[in-house]
Formats: sequence, C-alpha cells, structure tokens
Amino acid sequence: MTNWEELHRRCMSCQKCALADTRTNVVFGKGPKDARVMFIGEGPGENEDLQGEPFVGRGGQLLDEMLSLVGLSREKNFYITNIVKCRPPKNRDPLNTEQDACIGYLWDQMALIRPRIVVCLGRIAAMRLISPSYRITREHGQWMEKDGAYYTAIYHPAALLRDPTKKPDTFADLRSIRSKIREVCPEVYG
Ligand code: URA
Repeated sequence: MTNWEELHRRCMSCQKCALADTRTNVVFGKGPKDARVMFIGEGPGENEDLQGEPFVGRGGQLLDEMLSLVGLSREKNFYITNIVKCRPPKNRDPLNTEQDACIGYLWDQMALIRPRIVVCLGRIAAMRLISPSYRITREHGQWMEKDGAYYTAIYHPAALLRDPTKKPDTFADLRSIRSKIREVCPEVYG
C-alpha cells in the first residue's frame, strides 16, 4: 500500500506515456484527503495544464458554482481529479493506452481516500469507472454500488457550457447526489 507522499512523487515524475512530453504540469488532484465524496473527470485541459489544478477553467467555475448550491466545495468536502493526469494535446479524448498507463494513480488515490460516493464527470470517466458501454444521455444520475461505494455520473461541465438545455437534468442529478450523501455519509454536511 502506497502513501500520499510516495504516490504524489511518483505521479509528478511520471514518464509512462507520451503525454509526459507535451505537459506543462501534472494535474494530480485537489481536495481534502479524507473526503467522503470524489469527483472524477477525464483529463486536464489547457488551464489545468498551466495551473496544475483540476477543473480551473470555465467548466470548472461552472462546476464549483453548481456544487456550492448543494453544499459541496473542494476546499471542504470533496476530492477532485481525473482519469489521466496530463493534458491530451488539443483536448482530445485520452486514448485507452494513456488511460491504462495512468489509471493506477487513480486506483491508489481511491485506495487512500476510500470515498463512499464517486461522481464521474462525463462519458469518458463513466465508461472507465462504471461500465465500458455507459451511455451518459440515458444513464446519468443513476446509481450503482461497487465495493462499498456508490457510483454515478453527471454531464461533463464542458457539455453544459456547449448545451445549457442539459442543465436542469444536472441540477436534478445534483439533488440526487445530495440525498445520497445524506443517506450514506451525513457527516459531509456536518
Ligand atoms: N476537463 C476535465 O475532464 N478535467 C479537468 O481537469 C478539466 C477539464
């Protein structure tokens, strides 16, 4: 079993795939290490690559605003990271080979945090963490239980920026996340 320091050190110097050649920063993750709730996106974009933090661009701002409406903040009560820790060029989807190379870091983060609730942000994370055949349009907001944690997916914030008509569905999903938190880990809301 790894520890945070060792994991962080290994990840920051990772050369396991070609994304290492084009990154500015490794985007490890952000939030309390004892968070009960984890949010997981697909991979850093331009702003994240430049700042070394997940979801700090326009999509990230929208996400933080929406999550604050259900009492969640990365400073206080959730941990946020991505399937791949380095930016894919031109923001393309991370390749399966890149995901395979990187996913061990996420498994280690999850083993250390042991979240009760895992929220996938968008299709790529849901396909990796919930089911390879996941259909975000049809299945967002549904819950499945795996190894003592509850998993769901919501639309990726970039999809909400592109198509704001998806927002009401996401607000409904966020209310469902709030209910699930109250049910399985009410301490999150103190
Ligand atoms: N999109 C993602 O999936 N992750 C980020 O960190 C930023 C944008």
